[in-house]
Amino acid sequence: MLTSSLPFFSLLLLFSTTTAQPYNATDRFFLACGTPTTTTTDRRWDGDQNSKFVPPNTTTTSFSATPLHLDPSVPSTPYSHARIFNTSSFTYTFPVSEGPKFLRLYFYPATYTNLKPEQSFFSVSSNGFSLLTNFSAFLTASYLETTSFIKEFMIYVTDTQSLSVTFTPSLNSYAFINGIEIVSTPETLYFSVGGLKYVGQTTGPVTDSNMALENIYRLNMGGGHISGTDDTGMYRPWEQDNSYIYGAASGLTPVYDPKEQIMYTNETPSYTAPELVYRTQRSMGKQSDRYNLTWLLSVDSGFYYKLRLHFCNIIPQYTKTGQVVFKIFINNQTADEEIDLFQLTQGSGYPRQARFVGRDAS
Ligand SMILES: *[C@@H]1O[C@H](CO)[C@@H](O)[C@H](O)[C@H]1NC(C)=O
Ligand SMILES: *[C@@H]1O[C@H](CO)[C@@H](O)[C@H](O)[C@H]1NC(C)=O
Ligand SMILES: *[C@@H]1O[C@H](CO)[C@@H](O)[C@H](O)[C@H]1NC(C)=O
Ligand SMILES: *[C@@H]1O[C@H](CO)[C@@H](O)[C@H](O)[C@H]1NC(C)=O
Ligand SMILES: *[C@@H]1O[C@H](CO)[C@@H](O)[C@H](O)[C@H]1NC(C)=O
Ligand SMILES: *[C@@H]1O[C@H](CO)[C@@H](O)[C@H](O)[C@H]1NC(C)=O
Repeated sequence: MLTSSLPFFSLLLLFSTTTAQPYNATDRFFLACGTPTTTTTDRRWDGDQNSKFVPPNTTTTSFSATPLHLDPSVPSTPYSHARIFNTSSFTYTFPVSEGPKFLRLYFYPATYTNLKPEQSFFSVSSNGFSLLTNFSAFLTASYLETTSFIKEFMIYVTDTQSLSVTFTPSLNSYAFINGIEIVSTPETLYFSVGGLKYVGQTTGPVTDSNMALENIYRLNMGGGHISGTDDTGMYRPWEQDNSYIYGAASGLTPVYDPKEQIMYTNETPSYTAPELVYRTQRSMGKQSDRYNLTWLLSVDSGFYYKLRLHFCNIIPQYTKTGQVVFKIFINNQTADEEIDLFQLTQGSGYPRQARFVGRDAS
């Protein structure tokens, strides 16, 4: 379990999005697998049949299938088709520019032409990184208590200028995929950024091009769900934080006056997070010395986790240093002894991030 809690004085922790798209992704691929058809939802999905991203022997090394039953809660694109790999490894190859990319894999574990979802175990690798090993989409969906889900990774593509995604079925099993999405990200948003604070240790891993990342949670504190199309151009969905709050104390959820502006800066460029993220927050109000506001986020043990906390003052009563001061605990350990919001930001409406690296304790 990885818990982060912020107690003391007033607190605002927010993660966040907007209507304009400040980042124009150089690479953008939305591939609906197991279909020849192009479909436009809030974005354009191309079918992978006969696409230039699949190998010439696709028809002998894979087949297309539709789920026996499509749950009404599941969007038909890209989940109404799948490509199935039951004999050998299969590699998609995308020509991309050098730099960091999001790789999003869409899974709907269902019965595909007599193949039961619980019989599927497979591995996925990309550009030499092992992303999933003997993975069961069926078990993952039951654990997440959902029907379909997206696994989101970040890969730094070097001068090879190509991103490969390889599916390998486990012995006597089969692999499948419903959709593949690739979107580039700004150079230093996730990789090679300084200013990391390590929790409970003095040093730790740096995120550079030799490392692949997986996103586990992206929460909009105190606000609503923000869809990928309302992100800043990277199609990142932002989830509500409500269900992750631990204990009875959920704080206050003030909202920024719509007439006030969010002021992005060189340190926090406009692509960092949508305005909507910064316009809402979860605040501990004046009771903050009496309780902890805690989020409980389940993770796999044995990995390092990077936490990016987004802060922005939106409460008009607070205008200067010394007024919004709090501690941050991650896994019960002090991650920051004292954050003074106005020392961190330049004033109300200025978003800023604090980054931490923690390791799961259990
Ligand atoms: C985004 O970049 C593409 C080419 O990479 C260009 O065609 C398009 O006009 C750009 N869009 C915006 C809004 O700048
Ligand atoms: C299919 O083609 C790929 C590359 O074109 C090759 O690596 C793979 O071995 C082939 N698979 C089979 C089963 O022939
Ligand atoms: C893979 O699936 C195809 C199509 O359903 C089937 O003909 C073939 O026998 C299967 N191969 C294995 C090894 O299960
Ligand atoms: C994959 O996981 C299943 C279920 O836990 C297990 O039975 C199987 O032995 C595993 N296979 C490998 C290659 O680890
Ligand atoms: C944090 O401390 C509380 C109270 O002692 C304990 O119940 C909880 O398990 C701890 N959490 C972690 C992640 O160590
Ligand atoms: C808040 O959490 C920290 C770390 O677990 C703990 O030391 C502290 O006693 C807690 N404070 C309150 C008011 O519960």
